[in-house]
Amino acid sequence: MKPVASPAQDSLELTDEVLALHAWRMPDMVLYQHAYEEWWLAPLEDAVPLVKVNRAGLNLLNAMNGKVTVGALLEKFGPRVCGPNGETGRQCLERWPVPKFSLCYFGAEPPTGDRGDARWHLLLLKIREGWQGTSEFEGETHLSDFHAHEIGSPEGHFETIETTVSHLFREPSEAMAGLTYGRLLAKQLKKLGWWDRKPRVLLEVGGGLGYVARDLGGGLSPEERQGVRYVFVDITRPFVKSQLAMGREGGWAAAGLQANAEQLPLRDASIDLIVDNENLADMTPVKLTRREVESDKGASPLHQEALDWIRHAKLSLGAEVPEEFIFNLGPVRFVAELWRVLKPGGRAILVEFGIEEGFSAPVKLPGHTEYEVQYSHLRQVARLLGFQEKFGALPHFLNMRPDTRVLCTGAAYAIRRFCEAAGRSFAIRAYTESEFRHALGDMLPKLSGHHFHDISDPAWFGLWDFKVLLLEKPAAASQPKPQIKDVKGFRWGGMR
Ligand SMILES: C[S@@+](CC[C@H](N)C(=O)[O-])C[C@H]1O[C@@H](n2cnc3c(N)ncnc32)[C@H](O)[C@@H]1O
Repeated sequence: MKPVASPAQDSLELTDEVLALHAWRMPDMVLYQHAYEEWWLAPLEDAVPLVKVNRAGLNLLNAMNGKVTVGALLEKFGPRVCGPNGETGRQCLERWPVPKFSLCYFGAEPPTGDRGDARWHLLLLKIREGWQGTSEFEGETHLSDFHAHEIGSPEGHFETIETTVSHLFREPSEAMAGLTYGRLLAKQLKKLGWWDRKPRVLLEVGGGLGYVARDLGGGLSPEERQGVRYVFVDITRPFVKSQLAMGREGGWAAAGLQANAEQLPLRDASIDLIVDNENLADMTPVKLTRREVESDKGASPLHQEALDWIRHAKLSLGAEVPEEFIFNLGPVRFVAELWRVLKPGGRAILVEFGIEEGFSAPVKLPGHTEYEVQYSHLRQVARLLGFQEKFGALPHFLNMRPDTRVLCTGAAYAIRRFCEAAGRSFAIRAYTESEFRHALGDMLPKLSGHHFHDISDPAWFGLWDFKVLLLEKPAAASQPKPQIKDVKGFRWGGMR
Protein backbone atom coordinates (compact mmCIF):
# COMPACT_ATOMS: atom_id res chain seq x y z
CA MET A 1 0.00 0.00 0.00
CA LYS A 2 1.18 3.50 -0.77
CA PRO A 3 -0.59 5.81 1.66
CA VAL A 4 1.27 8.96 0.68
CA ALA A 5 -0.69 11.57 -1.23
CA SER A 6 0.08 12.63 -4.78
CA PRO A 7 2.56 15.51 -5.12
CA ALA A 8 -0.14 17.91 -6.21
CA GLN A 9 -2.08 17.23 -3.01
CA ASP A 10 -1.57 19.44 0.00
CA SER A 11 -3.00 16.97 2.45
CA LEU A 12 -3.80 13.34 3.01
CA GLU A 13 -7.32 12.21 3.76
CA LEU A 14 -7.40 10.45 7.12
CA THR A 15 -9.51 7.50 6.01
CA ASP A 16 -10.06 4.45 8.21
CA GLU A 17 -7.33 2.71 6.27
CA VAL A 18 -4.85 5.51 7.02
CA LEU A 19 -5.89 5.69 10.69
CA ALA A 20 -4.90 2.03 11.09
CA LEU A 21 -1.34 2.70 9.89
CA HIS A 22 1.61 3.38 12.16
CA ALA A 23 3.45 6.68 12.21
CA TRP A 24 7.20 7.30 12.11
CA ARG A 25 8.72 10.73 12.30
CA MET A 26 11.44 11.33 9.73
CA PRO A 27 14.76 10.32 11.28
CA ASP A 28 17.62 12.79 11.57
CA MET A 29 15.18 15.66 11.45
CA VAL A 30 16.72 18.97 12.43
CA LEU A 31 14.76 21.25 14.72
CA TYR A 32 15.42 24.89 15.46
CA GLN A 33 14.07 26.42 18.64
CA HIS A 34 13.31 29.93 17.55
CA ALA A 35 11.59 31.10 20.73
CA TYR A 36 10.82 29.69 24.19
CA GLU A 37 7.68 27.88 22.94
CA GLU A 38 8.29 27.78 19.18
CA TRP A 39 10.20 25.22 17.11
CA TRP A 40 10.79 25.24 13.34
CA LEU A 41 10.87 22.24 11.01
CA ALA A 42 11.93 22.25 7.35
CA PRO A 43 9.66 20.43 4.89
CA LEU A 44 11.49 18.51 2.19
CA GLU A 45 10.35 20.81 -0.58
CA ASP A 46 11.98 24.22 -0.47
CA ALA A 47 8.91 26.01 -1.80
CA VAL A 48 6.82 24.88 1.20
CA PRO A 49 7.14 27.38 4.08
CA LEU A 50 8.82 26.28 7.31
CA VAL A 51 6.51 24.44 9.70
CA LYS A 52 6.28 26.13 13.09
CA VAL A 53 5.05 24.18 16.10
CA ASN A 54 4.36 24.85 19.76
CA ARG A 55 4.97 22.33 22.56
CA ALA A 56 1.85 20.32 21.66
CA GLY A 57 3.10 20.09 18.04
CA LEU A 58 6.51 19.02 19.29
CA ASN A 59 4.88 16.33 21.44
CA LEU A 60 2.90 15.12 18.42
CA LEU A 61 6.08 14.85 16.41
CA ASN A 62 7.92 13.03 19.19
CA ALA A 63 5.00 10.62 19.63
CA MET A 64 5.52 9.32 16.07
CA ASN A 65 7.72 6.44 17.15
CA GLY A 66 6.48 3.64 14.88
CA LYS A 67 4.51 2.05 17.71
CA VAL A 68 1.60 4.43 17.65
CA THR A 69 -1.20 4.43 15.07
CA VAL A 70 -2.38 7.48 13.19
CA GLY A 71 -5.80 6.93 14.76
CA ALA A 72 -4.37 7.11 18.30
CA LEU A 73 -2.49 10.30 17.42
CA LEU A 74 -5.64 11.81 15.99
CA GLU A 75 -7.53 11.01 19.14
CA LYS A 76 -4.90 12.55 21.40
CA PHE A 77 -3.77 15.55 19.35
CA GLY A 78 -6.51 16.04 16.71
CA PRO A 79 -8.37 18.99 18.24
CA ARG A 80 -5.35 20.53 20.02
CA VAL A 81 -3.65 23.68 18.74
CA CYS A 82 -0.19 22.56 17.65
CA GLY A 83 1.18 25.63 15.84
CA PRO A 84 1.50 29.37 16.49
CA ASN A 85 -1.07 30.10 13.79
CA GLY A 86 -3.72 27.85 15.25
CA GLU A 87 -2.93 24.71 13.23
CA THR A 88 -4.63 21.72 14.82
CA GLY A 89 -3.12 18.30 15.36
CA ARG A 90 -5.48 16.98 12.69
CA GLN A 91 -4.12 19.45 10.15
CA CYS A 92 -0.57 18.40 11.06
CA LEU A 93 -1.44 14.71 10.58
CA GLU A 94 -3.03 15.50 7.23
CA ARG A 95 -0.06 17.51 5.93
CA TRP A 96 3.15 16.12 7.37
CA PRO A 97 3.19 12.77 5.50
CA VAL A 98 2.55 14.42 2.10
CA PRO A 99 5.72 14.17 -0.08
CA LYS A 100 6.37 17.88 -0.18
CA PHE A 101 6.42 18.01 3.65
CA SER A 102 7.92 14.55 4.29
CA LEU A 103 8.12 15.15 8.02
CA CYS A 104 6.76 11.71 8.80
CA TYR A 105 5.76 8.41 7.26
CA PHE A 106 2.57 6.41 7.73
CA GLY A 107 2.75 2.72 6.89
CA ALA A 108 1.97 -0.82 7.93
CA GLU A 109 5.68 -1.68 8.03
CA PRO A 110 8.68 0.46 8.91
CA PRO A 111 10.23 2.07 5.82
CA THR A 112 13.37 -0.03 5.92
CA GLY A 113 16.07 -0.36 3.31
CA ASP A 114 18.85 -2.92 3.33
CA ARG A 115 21.62 -0.64 4.56
CA GLY A 116 21.65 0.56 8.17
CA ASP A 117 21.65 4.33 8.06
CA ALA A 118 20.25 4.39 4.54
CA ARG A 119 17.04 2.67 5.68
CA TRP A 120 14.93 5.64 4.67
CA HIS A 121 16.43 5.58 1.22
CA LEU A 122 13.44 3.85 -0.35
CA LEU A 123 11.04 6.28 1.20
CA LEU A 124 13.07 9.23 -0.03
CA LEU A 125 13.08 7.72 -3.49
CA LYS A 126 9.29 7.64 -3.39
CA ILE A 127 9.24 11.22 -2.21
CA ARG A 128 11.59 12.25 -4.99
CA GLU A 129 9.40 10.53 -7.52
CA GLY A 130 6.71 12.75 -6.07
CA TRP A 131 8.77 15.82 -7.06
CA GLN A 132 8.24 14.96 -10.69
CA GLY A 133 4.83 13.44 -10.11
CA THR A 134 5.99 10.35 -11.98
CA SER A 135 8.33 7.41 -11.72
CA GLU A 136 8.18 7.02 -15.50
CA PHE A 137 10.99 7.79 -17.92
CA GLU A 138 10.73 11.48 -18.79
CA GLY A 139 12.05 11.25 -22.32
CA GLU A 140 15.36 11.72 -24.06
CA THR A 141 15.27 15.50 -24.30
CA HIS A 142 14.12 16.12 -20.74
CA LEU A 143 17.62 16.76 -19.35
CA SER A 144 18.88 19.03 -22.10
CA ASP A 145 15.59 20.99 -22.03
CA PHE A 146 15.83 21.39 -18.26
CA HIS A 147 19.39 22.72 -18.42
CA ALA A 148 18.87 24.90 -21.46
CA HIS A 149 15.62 26.53 -20.37
CA GLU A 150 14.66 25.90 -16.76
CA ILE A 151 17.59 27.02 -14.65
CA GLY A 152 16.57 30.53 -13.69
CA SER A 153 18.90 31.32 -10.81
CA PRO A 154 22.47 30.07 -11.26
CA GLU A 155 23.44 31.20 -7.75
CA GLY A 156 20.81 29.13 -5.96
CA HIS A 157 21.00 26.06 -8.19
CA PHE A 158 23.84 24.23 -6.42
CA GLU A 159 22.57 25.27 -2.98
CA THR A 160 19.03 23.99 -3.40
CA ILE A 161 18.52 21.86 -6.54
CA GLU A 162 21.67 19.77 -6.86
CA THR A 163 24.80 19.92 -4.82
CA THR A 164 28.01 18.63 -6.33
CA VAL A 165 31.14 17.31 -4.64
CA SER A 166 33.11 20.27 -5.98
CA HIS A 167 30.47 22.64 -4.58
CA LEU A 168 30.59 20.99 -1.14
CA PHE A 169 34.38 21.35 -1.08
CA ARG A 170 34.74 24.83 -2.62
CA GLU A 171 36.35 26.07 0.59
CA PRO A 172 39.56 24.52 1.97
CA SER A 173 38.70 21.34 3.85
CA GLU A 174 40.48 18.91 6.16
CA ALA A 175 39.13 16.08 3.98
CA MET A 176 41.04 17.56 1.02
CA ALA A 177 44.38 17.97 2.79
CA GLY A 178 43.45 21.56 3.61
CA LEU A 179 42.73 22.41 -0.04
CA THR A 180 39.61 23.03 -2.09
CA TYR A 181 38.39 20.40 -4.56
CA GLY A 182 39.75 22.35 -7.54
CA ARG A 183 43.14 22.95 -5.96
CA LEU A 184 43.51 19.29 -5.06
CA LEU A 185 42.52 18.39 -8.62
CA ALA A 186 45.26 20.68 -9.95
CA LYS A 187 47.76 18.99 -7.63
CA GLN A 188 46.78 15.49 -8.75
CA LEU A 189 46.84 16.40 -12.45
CA LYS A 190 50.34 17.78 -12.00
CA LYS A 191 51.39 14.58 -10.22
CA LEU A 192 50.08 12.65 -13.20
CA GLY A 193 52.41 14.65 -15.41
CA TRP A 194 49.54 16.36 -17.22
CA TRP A 195 51.27 19.71 -16.79
CA ASP A 196 54.74 18.49 -17.83
CA ARG A 197 53.78 19.61 -21.31
CA LYS A 198 51.63 22.66 -20.71
CA PRO A 199 48.24 22.47 -22.47
CA ARG A 200 47.66 25.32 -24.88
CA VAL A 201 43.87 24.96 -24.92
CA LEU A 202 42.03 23.62 -21.88
CA LEU A 203 38.31 22.92 -22.29
CA GLU A 204 36.03 22.69 -19.29
CA VAL A 205 32.63 21.19 -20.03
CA GLY A 206 29.67 21.78 -17.70
CA GLY A 207 31.57 24.01 -15.30
CA GLY A 208 28.54 25.05 -13.20
CA LEU A 209 29.32 28.26 -11.34
CA GLY A 210 33.04 28.01 -12.17
CA TYR A 211 34.59 27.05 -8.83
CA VAL A 212 36.64 24.23 -10.37
CA ALA A 213 38.14 26.64 -12.91
CA ARG A 214 38.86 29.26 -10.24
CA ASP A 215 40.61 26.76 -8.00
CA LEU A 216 42.42 24.85 -10.74
CA GLY A 217 43.91 28.25 -11.57
CA GLY A 218 44.66 28.90 -7.90
CA GLY A 219 46.45 25.55 -7.65
CA LEU A 220 48.84 26.47 -10.45
CA SER A 221 51.49 29.19 -10.60
CA PRO A 222 51.13 32.20 -12.96
CA GLU A 223 53.89 30.60 -15.09
CA GLU A 224 51.94 27.33 -15.27
CA ARG A 225 48.81 29.21 -16.41
CA GLN A 226 50.59 31.53 -18.78
CA GLY A 227 49.76 30.95 -22.44
CA VAL A 228 46.90 28.53 -21.61
CA ARG A 229 43.49 29.39 -23.11
CA TYR A 230 40.66 28.21 -20.86
CA VAL A 231 37.47 27.55 -22.82
CA PHE A 232 34.11 26.86 -21.15
CA VAL A 233 31.29 25.00 -22.89
CA ASP A 234 27.98 24.70 -21.04
CA ILE A 235 24.42 24.08 -22.14
CA THR A 236 23.09 26.53 -19.49
CA ARG A 237 23.70 30.09 -20.67
CA PRO A 238 23.55 31.80 -17.23
CA PHE A 239 26.27 29.44 -15.97
CA VAL A 240 28.69 30.48 -18.72
CA LYS A 241 28.67 34.07 -17.44
CA SER A 242 29.51 32.92 -13.92
CA GLN A 243 32.21 30.57 -15.26
CA LEU A 244 33.91 33.39 -17.16
CA ALA A 245 34.00 35.59 -14.05
CA MET A 246 35.31 32.77 -11.84
CA GLY A 247 37.77 31.60 -14.50
CA ARG A 248 39.26 35.09 -14.70
CA GLU A 249 39.40 35.21 -10.89
CA GLY A 250 41.47 32.03 -11.13
CA GLY A 251 43.92 33.80 -13.40
CA TRP A 252 42.87 32.21 -16.70
CA ALA A 253 42.56 33.79 -20.13
CA ALA A 254 38.98 32.56 -20.44
CA ALA A 255 36.41 32.28 -23.22
CA GLY A 256 33.02 30.56 -23.12
CA LEU A 257 30.11 29.44 -25.24
CA GLN A 258 26.72 27.86 -24.76
CA ALA A 259 26.46 24.47 -26.43
CA ASN A 260 25.46 20.88 -25.89
CA ALA A 261 28.59 18.83 -25.22
CA GLU A 262 27.12 15.89 -27.12
CA GLN A 263 27.85 17.92 -30.27
CA LEU A 264 30.80 20.14 -29.47
CA PRO A 265 31.05 23.18 -31.76
CA LEU A 266 34.84 22.83 -31.82
CA ARG A 267 37.32 21.93 -34.54
CA ASP A 268 38.83 18.45 -34.79
CA ALA A 269 42.11 18.01 -32.90
CA SER A 270 41.97 21.48 -31.35
CA ILE A 271 42.07 20.79 -27.57
CA ASP A 272 44.91 19.60 -25.32
CA LEU A 273 43.12 18.97 -22.04
CA ILE A 274 39.45 18.49 -21.10
CA VAL A 275 37.90 18.69 -17.63
CA ASP A 276 34.34 17.43 -17.24
CA ASN A 277 33.24 17.45 -13.61
CA GLU A 278 29.89 15.92 -12.59
CA ASN A 279 28.10 16.42 -15.85
CA LEU A 280 27.86 13.00 -17.56
CA ALA A 281 24.71 12.03 -15.62
CA ASP A 282 22.99 15.05 -17.19
CA MET A 283 23.46 13.77 -20.74
CA THR A 284 20.87 12.03 -22.93
CA PRO A 285 19.52 8.74 -21.56
CA VAL A 286 17.72 6.35 -23.90
CA LYS A 287 15.25 3.76 -22.70
CA LEU A 288 15.69 0.67 -24.88
CA THR A 289 13.64 -2.50 -24.95
CA ARG A 290 14.73 -6.11 -25.22
CA ARG A 291 12.73 -6.31 -28.42
CA GLU A 292 14.76 -3.52 -29.98
CA VAL A 293 18.02 -5.20 -28.96
CA GLU A 294 16.95 -8.59 -30.31
CA SER A 295 15.72 -7.19 -33.62
CA ASP A 296 18.50 -4.57 -33.81
CA LYS A 297 15.83 -2.12 -34.91
CA GLY A 298 15.40 1.05 -32.86
CA ALA A 299 12.00 2.66 -32.41
CA SER A 300 13.53 6.06 -33.30
CA PRO A 301 16.77 7.37 -34.82
CA LEU A 302 18.07 7.99 -31.29
CA HIS A 303 17.31 4.41 -30.26
CA GLN A 304 18.98 3.14 -33.44
CA GLU A 305 22.07 5.21 -32.63
CA ALA A 306 22.19 3.60 -29.17
CA LEU A 307 21.77 0.10 -30.65
CA ASP A 308 24.54 0.80 -33.16
CA TRP A 309 26.95 1.71 -30.34
CA ILE A 310 26.00 -1.42 -28.38
CA ARG A 311 26.67 -3.63 -31.38
CA HIS A 312 29.75 -1.79 -32.58
CA ALA A 313 31.45 -1.70 -29.16
CA LYS A 314 30.19 -5.23 -28.30
CA LEU A 315 28.77 -3.96 -25.02
CA SER A 316 27.62 -6.68 -22.66
CA LEU A 317 23.98 -6.48 -21.62
CA GLY A 318 24.25 -9.50 -19.33
CA ALA A 319 22.96 -13.03 -19.74
CA GLU A 320 19.38 -11.89 -19.86
CA VAL A 321 18.54 -8.53 -21.40
CA PRO A 322 15.88 -6.83 -19.27
CA GLU A 323 12.59 -5.93 -20.89
CA GLU A 324 13.50 -2.24 -20.63
CA PHE A 325 16.75 -0.57 -19.61
CA ILE A 326 18.52 2.78 -19.73
CA PHE A 327 21.50 3.27 -22.01
CA ASN A 328 23.77 6.32 -21.51
CA LEU A 329 23.74 7.49 -25.10
CA GLY A 330 24.72 11.10 -24.20
CA PRO A 331 27.94 10.14 -22.36
CA VAL A 332 28.87 7.78 -25.21
CA ARG A 333 28.34 10.55 -27.78
CA PHE A 334 30.36 12.89 -25.57
CA VAL A 335 33.33 10.49 -25.38
CA ALA A 336 33.21 10.17 -29.17
CA GLU A 337 33.29 13.98 -29.37
CA LEU A 338 36.29 14.02 -27.03
CA TRP A 339 38.10 11.67 -29.37
CA ARG A 340 37.35 14.03 -32.25
CA VAL A 341 38.30 17.34 -30.62
CA LEU A 342 41.37 16.21 -28.67
CA LYS A 343 44.76 16.65 -30.28
CA PRO A 344 46.89 13.52 -30.53
CA GLY A 345 48.47 13.23 -27.07
CA GLY A 346 45.51 15.12 -25.57
CA ARG A 347 43.86 14.10 -22.31
CA ALA A 348 40.54 14.25 -20.52
CA ILE A 349 39.37 13.76 -16.96
CA LEU A 350 35.72 12.84 -16.43
CA VAL A 351 34.18 12.72 -12.94
CA GLU A 352 30.66 11.51 -12.19
CA PHE A 353 28.70 9.06 -10.04
CA GLY A 354 28.06 5.72 -11.60
CA ILE A 355 28.11 1.96 -11.57
CA GLU A 356 30.44 -0.66 -12.98
CA GLU A 357 27.91 -3.33 -13.91
CA GLY A 358 24.20 -3.70 -14.48
CA PHE A 359 22.00 -0.94 -15.77
CA SER A 360 21.82 2.74 -15.03
CA ALA A 361 19.21 3.79 -12.45
CA PRO A 362 17.49 7.16 -12.25
CA VAL A 363 18.40 9.66 -9.56
CA LYS A 364 15.48 11.96 -8.85
CA LEU A 365 16.28 15.59 -8.14
CA PRO A 366 13.94 18.58 -7.93
CA GLY A 367 12.75 19.34 -11.47
CA HIS A 368 14.87 16.75 -13.25
CA THR A 369 16.06 13.17 -13.20
CA GLU A 370 19.69 12.23 -13.76
CA TYR A 371 21.05 8.79 -14.67
CA GLU A 372 23.97 6.85 -13.23
CA VAL A 373 26.84 6.36 -15.66
CA GLN A 374 27.41 2.73 -16.61
CA TYR A 375 31.20 2.91 -16.62
CA SER A 376 32.04 -0.51 -18.04
CA HIS A 377 30.13 0.50 -21.18
CA LEU A 378 31.70 3.94 -21.34
CA ARG A 379 35.21 2.56 -20.86
CA GLN A 380 34.68 -0.02 -23.58
CA VAL A 381 33.52 2.68 -25.99
CA ALA A 382 36.58 4.77 -25.05
CA ARG A 383 38.89 1.83 -25.81
CA LEU A 384 37.08 1.12 -29.06
CA LEU A 385 37.71 4.71 -30.14
CA GLY A 386 41.42 4.27 -29.38
CA PHE A 387 41.77 5.95 -25.98
CA GLN A 388 44.08 4.74 -23.23
CA GLU A 389 41.96 4.85 -20.11
CA LYS A 390 42.25 4.54 -16.37
CA PHE A 391 39.43 4.39 -13.88
CA GLY A 392 38.82 4.47 -10.13
CA ALA A 393 36.92 5.97 -7.23
CA LEU A 394 37.12 9.76 -6.83
CA PRO A 395 38.11 9.72 -3.12
CA HIS A 396 41.04 7.40 -4.00
CA PHE A 397 42.09 9.61 -6.87
CA LEU A 398 42.07 12.64 -4.59
CA ASN A 399 43.65 10.77 -1.67
CA MET A 400 40.83 11.95 0.57
CA ARG A 401 40.80 11.07 4.25
CA PRO A 402 37.86 8.67 4.68
CA ASP A 403 37.50 9.31 8.41
CA THR A 404 36.95 13.05 8.17
CA ARG A 405 33.59 13.81 9.78
CA VAL A 406 31.30 16.22 8.02
CA LEU A 407 27.80 17.57 8.54
CA CYS A 408 24.94 15.54 7.07
CA THR A 409 23.90 17.29 3.83
CA GLY A 410 20.19 16.88 4.64
CA ALA A 411 20.81 18.78 7.88
CA ALA A 412 22.71 21.46 5.98
CA TYR A 413 19.69 22.06 3.70
CA ALA A 414 17.35 22.42 6.70
CA ILE A 415 19.76 24.71 8.59
CA ARG A 416 20.15 26.89 5.51
CA ARG A 417 16.40 27.43 5.52
CA PHE A 418 16.29 28.22 9.24
CA CYS A 419 19.12 30.73 8.83
CA GLU A 420 17.43 32.34 5.86
CA ALA A 421 14.18 32.76 7.85
CA ALA A 422 16.15 34.16 10.78
CA GLY A 423 17.91 36.65 8.48
CA ARG A 424 21.33 34.98 8.52
CA SER A 425 23.38 33.41 5.77
CA PHE A 426 24.50 29.81 5.74
CA ALA A 427 26.11 28.19 2.69
CA ILE A 428 25.74 24.49 1.80
CA ARG A 429 29.15 22.91 2.35
CA ALA A 430 30.76 19.78 3.80
CA TYR A 431 31.35 21.32 7.25
CA THR A 432 33.62 19.61 9.74
CA GLU A 433 32.48 19.95 13.37
CA SER A 434 34.76 22.91 14.09
CA GLU A 435 33.84 24.68 10.84
CA PHE A 436 30.18 24.16 11.69
CA ARG A 437 30.58 25.59 15.19
CA HIS A 438 32.29 28.60 13.71
CA ALA A 439 29.60 29.09 11.02
CA LEU A 440 26.65 28.79 13.42
CA GLY A 441 27.94 30.70 16.44
CA ASP A 442 25.17 31.53 18.95
CA MET A 443 22.56 29.71 16.85
CA LEU A 444 24.15 26.33 17.53
CA PRO A 445 22.58 25.62 20.97
CA LYS A 446 19.12 26.18 19.46
CA LEU A 447 19.56 23.42 16.91
CA SER A 448 18.97 19.75 17.53
CA GLY A 449 18.86 16.57 15.47
CA HIS A 450 21.81 17.35 13.17
CA HIS A 451 24.65 14.88 12.99
CA PHE A 452 27.99 14.22 11.35
CA HIS A 453 29.12 11.35 9.11
CA ASP A 454 32.50 9.96 8.14
CA ILE A 455 32.83 11.02 4.51
CA SER A 456 33.23 7.32 3.65
CA ASP A 457 29.74 6.57 5.02
CA PRO A 458 27.48 5.77 2.03
CA ALA A 459 24.66 7.53 3.85
CA TRP A 460 26.55 10.84 3.63
CA PHE A 461 26.86 11.78 -0.03
CA GLY A 462 27.61 8.43 -1.68
CA LEU A 463 31.08 9.82 -2.33
CA TRP A 464 32.49 6.41 -3.23
CA ASP A 465 29.95 6.16 -6.05
CA PHE A 466 31.79 9.03 -7.75
CA LYS A 467 34.34 7.77 -10.25
CA VAL A 468 37.18 9.26 -12.23
CA LEU A 469 37.80 8.25 -15.84
CA LEU A 470 41.12 9.40 -17.27
CA LEU A 471 41.45 9.31 -21.04
CA GLU A 472 44.51 9.79 -23.20
CA LYS A 473 44.54 9.96 -26.99
CA PRO A 474 47.73 8.37 -28.31
CA ALA A 475 50.22 10.84 -29.73
CA ALA A 476 50.18 9.38 -33.23
CA ALA A 477 48.69 6.23 -34.69
CA SER A 478 52.11 5.00 -35.81
CA GLN A 479 53.68 5.38 -32.35
CA PRO A 480 53.31 2.84 -29.54
CA LYS A 481 50.36 3.73 -27.34
CA PRO A 482 51.53 5.54 -24.18
CA GLN A 483 50.18 4.30 -20.87
CA ILE A 484 48.65 6.80 -18.48
CA LYS A 485 51.54 7.42 -16.14
CA ASP A 486 51.72 5.83 -12.70
CA VAL A 487 53.60 8.28 -10.52
CA LYS A 488 55.84 7.24 -7.67
CA GLY A 489 54.30 8.23 -4.36
CA PHE A 490 50.91 8.70 -5.93
CA ARG A 491 48.41 6.35 -4.34
CA TRP A 492 46.15 5.14 -7.10
CA GLY A 493 43.95 3.24 -4.68
CA GLY A 494 41.35 1.47 -6.77
CA MET A 495 42.41 3.02 -10.11
CA ARG A 496 42.70 0.45 -12.83
C1 LIG B 1 25.85 18.97 -11.97
S1 LIG B 1 26.42 20.39 -12.76
C2 LIG B 1 28.15 20.32 -12.40
C3 LIG B 1 28.74 21.69 -12.34
C4 LIG B 1 30.20 21.79 -11.93
N1 LIG B 1 31.06 21.10 -12.85
C5 LIG B 1 30.40 21.30 -10.52
O1 LIG B 1 31.20 20.38 -10.34
O2 LIG B 1 29.78 21.84 -9.60
C6 LIG B 1 26.32 19.97 -14.47
C7 LIG B 1 26.82 21.05 -15.37
O3 LIG B 1 26.82 20.55 -16.71
C8 LIG B 1 26.04 21.40 -17.53
N2 LIG B 1 25.44 20.53 -18.57
C9 LIG B 1 24.44 19.64 -18.39
N3 LIG B 1 24.21 18.98 -19.54
C10 LIG B 1 25.08 19.46 -20.45
C11 LIG B 1 25.32 19.19 -21.81
N4 LIG B 1 24.62 18.26 -22.46
N5 LIG B 1 26.27 19.89 -22.44
C12 LIG B 1 26.99 20.84 -21.79
N6 LIG B 1 26.80 21.13 -20.50
C13 LIG B 1 25.86 20.46 -19.83
C14 LIG B 1 25.08 22.09 -16.59
O4 LIG B 1 24.58 23.28 -17.11
C15 LIG B 1 25.98 22.30 -15.38
O5 LIG B 1 26.82 23.40 -15.54
